[in-house]
Amino acid sequence: MLKCAAILAGGGAILGGIVKVTRLLTLLGFPVLLLLSGSALAQTAPTAPILLMGAPMGAVKFDHTAHLKVAGKCEICHHASKPEKPLKATQEACTDCHTNPATPPVTTKLQAAFHNPTATAGLCIDCHKTQNSQGRAAPVKCADCHKKNNG
Ligand code: HEC
Ligand code: HEC
Ligand code: HEC
Ligand code: HEC
Repeated sequence: MLKCAAILAGGGAILGGIVKVTRLLTLLGFPVLLLLSGSALAQTAPTAPILLMGAPMGAVKFDHTAHLKVAGKCEICHHASKPEKPLKATQEACTDCHTNPATPPVTTKLQAAFHNPTATAGLCIDCHKTQNSQGRAAPVKCADCHKKNNG
């Protein structure tokens, strides 16, 4: 499926544009997200918030625009390619590789890619704690990130 979407996306670019490909994929019943997953087009940060699904207590809404002002660069979150499973794109979706349960050869499962079981540490939490100690109001409680009404 992913390969197929990437090939369609490549062909579409030659034929004249993302809009056409998006329409085509929608017509074919592919989620538009597949267009971005692992495709060479995925080079700029999404402007609309991303919904990270999976946790029973609700999806997490992640907004690049707000975060880039604080994080500064992509590499803060999008780590370099690792030999166990090389990246297909510089900013490939975390969920391509980090799943529940972990999919070998990757050993870091979905939750661990973002935080430890008690959500006291991890990529998202560490920065939120640091920022909060400097007067910001970044979420550290489960229900402030995982919200049922996020979908
Ligand atoms: C604070 C953390 C963070 C920073 C900084 C960040 N990203 Fe992301 N990015 C994410 C997360 C989380 C996702 C969602 C991954 C998923 O859906 O599995 C994501 C997804 C993406 C995707 C969509 C991937 C796909 O195939 O669906 C692209 C493209 C992307 N980021 C590009 C960028 C670029 C370019 C920058 C720097 C200008 C950047 N990101 C900076 C956390 C970050
Ligand atoms: C192409 C696959 C792939 C993608 C995409 C990917 N990772 Fe990873 N990640 C790995 C591999 C391989 C490791 C090494 C450890 C392992 O095997 O789990 C790793 C390790 C980690 C670790 C453990 C600490 C470390 O650096 O070793 C964290 C945290 C992590 N990834 C978070 C993320 C986040 C957040 C994203 C998206 C912004 C992401 N990863 C995208 C493959 C990937
Ligand atoms: C480089 C630091 C940094 C990293 C890394 C980071 N955040 Fe944040 N995040 C912040 C700050 C600062 C705020 C509060 C922004 C403000 O004060 O308005 C925030 C706010 C949020 C919010 C609340 C947004 C709102 O509209 O209220 C969510 C949700 C969130 N972050 C999720 C995440 C997730 C998920 C990750 C990991 C993929 C992550 N963040 C990684 C700094 C960071
Ligand atoms: C800063 C935001 C943030 C906070 C706070 C947070 N989480 Fe998460 N959590 C995430 C993100 C992002 C993911 C990966 C996407 C997903 O599964 O929703 C995740 C994933 C998970 C998963 C994995 C779901 C699966 O399918 O494997 C569990 C379980 C989880 N969180 C539980 C918790 C608990 C319990 C707390 C509080 C003790 C908590 N989280 C606090 C952002 C957060």
